[in-house]
Amino acid sequence: MKRIALYCQLLIFPLALCLPFVFAQHGKTDPRMQKQSFGKLPDGTQADLYILRNKNGMEVDITNYGADVVSIKVPDRHGKIEDVALGYDNLEGYIHDKAYFGATVGRYANRIAHGSFKLHGRVYTLPKNNGDNTLHGGTSGFNKRLWKAEDVSTPEAAAVQMSYLSKNGDQGFPGNLSVNVRFTLADDNSLKIEYAATTDKDTVVNLTNHSYFNLAGQGKGDILGQELQLHASRFTPVNANLIPTGQISPVKGTPLDFTRSTAIGARINADFEQLKLGHGYDHNFVIDGNPMRKMALAARAYDPGSGRVLEIWTTQPGIQFYSGNFLDGTVAGKGGVKYGRRSAFALETQHFPDSPNQPNFPTTELKAGRWFRSTTVYKFSTQ
Ligand code: GLA
Repeated sequence: MKRIALYCQLLIFPLALCLPFVFAQHGKTDPRMQKQSFGKLPDGTQADLYILRNKNGMEVDITNYGADVVSIKVPDRHGKIEDVALGYDNLEGYIHDKAYFGATVGRYANRIAHGSFKLHGRVYTLPKNNGDNTLHGGTSGFNKRLWKAEDVSTPEAAAVQMSYLSKNGDQGFPGNLSVNVRFTLADDNSLKIEYAATTDKDTVVNLTNHSYFNLAGQGKGDILGQELQLHASRFTPVNANLIPTGQISPVKGTPLDFTRSTAIGARINADFEQLKLGHGYDHNFVIDGNPMRKMALAARAYDPGSGRVLEIWTTQPGIQFYSGNFLDGTVAGKGGVKYGRRSAFALETQHFPDSPNQPNFPTTELKAGRWFRSTTVYKFSTQ
């Protein structure tokens, strides 16, 4: 009997000692952060994919090519996980992308009229890539660059930081601009994006993320039945080139009034000049109560079918609501799905379009040696 007890002790002790390693190994097979190759650029450089996970099974994939958000997998009201972000299966798709799926957009998100602006009396000329305008940073914006990535995860949350140095004169913009964008996936199903940039010469900067959302799941039809609420009682009307006229107008009484949750498609084809000019919604809304750059709730989207809710919180003064009007079914996205017109919406937290040419708008100038900082949170839940 004694001998059996001794054998047992001899067996159980080493097993007990091994347990922490067994758990550690287990942890390694399901970590919060995983890195894998995402393919090679034409020059042979490798791009990577960073897979962030939280305890609820939510997953966000980010590549250091373009600091692009590749997928956002979130549960519906029954716990079924779907990818709610449009994008591509591989690097190739992002290299050829013209829709800015998931992209980090810079140096200047949205439009700059006539591809030029004046700063301290000097005129800067930018490449025009949208009719007479510069759109989303020029012909080769930040979404076409390979960023340096660093795993900055903590025990609480998976996080990756992307860094890029945009040289003086890049796409016509002055100053060496050093940019960091940090993505953190928390256990409350929020994806936080923190932007920081500094320059050695006065310049202009406007950074955003251009994720396209379909809360039913990417590739699952149009978003016209999904509801949107914008905490914005004013917007910046545009001309036929989608350049702001300079006015800041109330949304009250117009189809741009989303102060109450309303289906995106309810008024999208209304006989209203701004909707005709935008080919639907493609407007910058002025976020209420946010001149102090405090974190504020800017938007809430809801899909009645799946129950998924997306809240967007930001320190930015504006949000561009774009109803995917230019998606035309020609581009094959994930799984070869052709993304049709209005099959997703984008809500781009930002400074107002064309601010460098608009004296009435909050300034986008960044002085040499100073830091630009902003934070946006995409918070998912169900209802
Ligand atoms: C922004 C613009 C749109 C369109 C998309 C990219 O949302 O406002 O007009 O150019 O980017 O396709």
